[in-house]
Amino acid sequence: MVKAKVWILRKHFDGFPKESDFQMQEETLPEVKDGEVMLEAIFLSLDPYMRAVSKALMKEGDVQLGAQVAKVIQSKNRAYPVGCYVLAPCGWRTHTVTNGKAIFGQNMARVLPDWPKDIPLSMAIGALGMPGLTALYGLEEVLQVKPGEIVLVSAAAGAVGTMVGQICKIKGCKVVGSAGSEEKMAYLKELGFDHVFNYRTVSSLDEALKEASPEGYDCYFENVGGPFFTAALNQMRIGGRIAVCGAISLYNATTPQMCPYPHMTLLSRKIRIEGFQVDQWPDKDEASTRRLVKWMKEGKIKAKEKITEGFENMPAAFIRMLKGTDLGKAVVKV
Ligand SMILES: NC(=O)c1ccc[n+]([C@@H]2O[C@H](COP(=O)([O-])OP(=O)(O)OC[C@H]3O[C@@H](n4cnc5c(N)ncnc54)[C@H](OP(=O)(O)O)[C@@H]3O)[C@@H](O)[C@H]2O)c1
Repeated sequence: MVKAKVWILRKHFDGFPKESDFQMQEETLPEVKDGEVMLEAIFLSLDPYMRAVSKALMKEGDVQLGAQVAKVIQSKNRAYPVGCYVLAPCGWRTHTVTNGKAIFGQNMARVLPDWPKDIPLSMAIGALGMPGLTALYGLEEVLQVKPGEIVLVSAAAGAVGTMVGQICKIKGCKVVGSAGSEEKMAYLKELGFDHVFNYRTVSSLDEALKEASPEGYDCYFENVGGPFFTAALNQMRIGGRIAVCGAISLYNATTPQMCPYPHMTLLSRKIRIEGFQVDQWPDKDEASTRRLVKWMKEGKIKAKEKITEGFENMPAAFIRMLKGTDLGKAVVKV
């Protein structure tokens, strides 16, 4: 009998998540039946959406949702032979028995069978996985950026933001990023961002945005929401486009945030705003992942990871990720 460790959402988050909102339990797994596999988690991803969608998708007592890179250790499903690696949306669990279908509404998928030996598998849930695809689709499908355009991205030092900036440079754009520490700003400059500023320490967001790009912005890749959104909107050029990827400043808010009505700015500058989610282009995922892998192999994109050792540290690592304490994609190694 294989025993799994699982993290349960003990109590719905009230404001900022606390470690006491989670509880670790042990579960005896059932035998693997026809069509099923048994997975052993290798790397688990920690992402802001886990906070954002928690109330909508989970009830107290559910296994905390999330995705992992796992190894197939038993198989009665020919699509997933023993020893292969998968991307499995099966939550915060060390071991899982599954048929791979519709787990939290998503299907399991193979990690590219020819995954390069010199790229860590953890990147399959980071720069070369969901966050990297989010950056690519936001820029190509939603904003449709063109060479020479000026792109602004918030939470720029995050898993998505670092990829947005580097892909912008591949596409010949000028890119401006905001982040919350000097260390993060230095890293963004190293990655090739044209201008960066610390949104926590500037005296005026409006002035910082103007100084970074006096001619305004053609595109804004929105990750944070709140007052930053209003400030960015005011610096958009005529015909500007905004891709709403996330709104992390709102996820832990306990009272609704108010902002000035944006209608006159939208109207007078003919601005288009579009929300999107990474799962809108599933048919492109494999080819897009291969493009990201190729860019990394060519040295055109780089990625840092903040790897926390130990499944027991999932809640603490999750909270650090939401606070922006560390630099690099938040991952837990079991
Ligand atoms: N639409 C989609 O399909 C999709 C997919 C993936 C991610 N997303 C969204 O994309 C955004 C970035 O995700 P990620 O994976 O790249 O996360 P991440 O940046 O790796 O981690 C979150 C970062 O957000 C910043 N942050 C935290 N609170 C903030 C606040 N109040 N104001 C401004 N920044 C704050 C922190 O950096 P600082 O030190 O700079 O504050 C922190 O490092 C999130 O909004 C997420 O929900 C959307």
